[in-house]
Amino acid sequence: MQITSATFVKSSQVVADMPPPKMPEYGFVGRSNVGKSSLINALTQRKKLAKTSGTPGKTQLINHFLINESWYLADLPGYGYARVSKTQRKVFQKMIQEYLFKRENLMNVFVLVDSRLEPQEGDLEFMEMLGIKRIPFSIIFTKIDKLKKDELETNLSVYENKLFETWEELPPMMFTSSTSKAGREELLDKISEINELF
Ligand code: GTP
Ligand code: MG
Repeated sequence: MQITSATFVKSSQVVADMPPPKMPEYGFVGRSNVGKSSLINALTQRKKLAKTSGTPGKTQLINHFLINESWYLADLPGYGYARVSKTQRKVFQKMIQEYLFKRENLMNVFVLVDSRLEPQEGDLEFMEMLGIKRIPFSIIFTKIDKLKKDELETNLSVYENKLFETWEELPPMMFTSSTSKAGREELLDKISEINELF
């Protein structure tokens, strides 16, 4: 899929304030600093569409971007990062949950996890919750430019084994780097495929 247009629509805290749910939408979620906003910029090839930062907790609202006048990307605040205050984390958590449970046009959630880290309890719990609520999701392993091929393979098998402790079937998985743009085409293909189902 070619990206012909990508525009910021608005920031909201609650579903009632979001753009009308008339087009398919994809939510990017994951721990603060995992690279959600950066991936949105890489996907759309717009360096400053979503605001990024080396300091966790940069994205504080749910930001909607309209792509090709026909589908939405939603950039969400991060969950569960120790350097973000407990109060702030609670606020983000509530915002994320309301979004996930109520956003009608949400087609798929992309759960981003840092490919360098071993499975994080918070991410696993989050995925369990999505499973219980029957919200479709895919896992995106981010920042793969930081790893050698064999390191990525090792981390992936550790992750898969961990998931097999609770999941019978694994969700779709993708591997991306916002720096090298690895995985960009695959992710766009996936979105394009799901767009047809709307
Ligand atoms: P919050 O908004 O705080 O939840 O974080 P976020 O998940 O949106 O992360 P963000 O995109 O702001 O990126 C966090 C940091 O990771 C920034 O310093 C980015 O430059 C860096 N980063 C993001 N993606 C990549 C990547 O693919 N490779 C490398 N090397 N660095 C990345
Ligand atoms: Mg962000």
